[in-house]
Amino acid sequence: MDYKLEFDNLKSKALEEISKTDDLKALDELKNKYLAKKGEISLMMNHIREVEDKKAFGELYNLTRKEVESFLNEKIKKGEEKKLNEELVKERIDITLPGNNFERGVANPFFKTINEIEDIFVGMGYSIATGPEVDYDKYVFELLNIPHDHPARDMQDTLYIDNNLLLRSHTSSVQAHVMENAKGKPIKIICPGKTYRRDDDDMTHSHQFAQVEGLVIDKNINLGNLKATLELFAQKMFSKDTKVRFRSSFFPFTEPSVEVDISCFNCKGKGCSICKGSGWIEILGAGMVHPNVLKMSGYDPEVYSGFAFGIGIERVTMLKYGINDIRRFYQNDLRFIKEFKKVKED
Ligand code: PHE
Repeated sequence: MDYKLEFDNLKSKALEEISKTDDLKALDELKNKYLAKKGEISLMMNHIREVEDKKAFGELYNLTRKEVESFLNEKIKKGEEKKLNEELVKERIDITLPGNNFERGVANPFFKTINEIEDIFVGMGYSIATGPEVDYDKYVFELLNIPHDHPARDMQDTLYIDNNLLLRSHTSSVQAHVMENAKGKPIKIICPGKTYRRDDDDMTHSHQFAQVEGLVIDKNINLGNLKATLELFAQKMFSKDTKVRFRSSFFPFTEPSVEVDISCFNCKGKGCSICKGSGWIEILGAGMVHPNVLKMSGYDPEVYSGFAFGIGIERVTMLKYGINDIRRFYQNDLRFIKEFKKVKED
């Protein structure tokens, strides 16, 4: 057998057939025809038994295979490129078509207020803390100096999960957590979050609302610090000339306790519908942290003192934007939210 001639013929035949087509399927068939296990070139290997110079035969076999294979691969590559180009031309996107119009959203005023309050207090060096919305009696009441059967619990008639677990009725519960974790070290935090109480659902009441709690504990903290802090907050939140007034009040976890009023930012104290003619608007509760609360959380009240406050977020938002119904915040009525597109971003 003249295997050299045989290889030569086979190679010319294969190369010729391959050169004639660009079609990927046809090229694949040719690969099978020549190079697969039972392909014509592969089958040549059966003849190695018949020749003497097996080494030369083997070399020629490999060379032939390689040449055919690389030519074939090149054609396959070209074929794929051609196919891709054809597809790209076919799938060309018409960028002149008008797109879908997306309406630009607007931040809910409730969250705008939270962001604003956070910015103001972070600017004063406060950190932002969070706590659980479902919490143990211990944190919502006990550690805040509201023992079992204390009438102060009635002020926050509460939504219980079981005897010991409830939806927090105020963010003051976060104070108890933060103090527990601080292990006697100074604290300066605010905590914005949702709170829940069984309540009427009307224009000014909701069973769900939100507060920002503030807590500062350190040596030499006094009521003057609290007043200065809240005044600065009110001036940044409402207007530069806002004044703050304290009225004595009661909270079990603060002593003394105060209700905090701000001078009416609308009429500047003259009396209008927003301040109901009084010139003052009540916005939050506050006080000096009660010595019992400090003691229960591992602070020596002879060494440490602190203040705490709780701001109603909806209340502040309603005042600031002239919203008259608290339920608007929860009704998901887009018409309400869209009104705030008109509010100038500052
Ligand atoms: N926790 C009080 C409330 O929900 C508000 C408050 C917070 C008062 C901190 C004093 C100090 O009514």
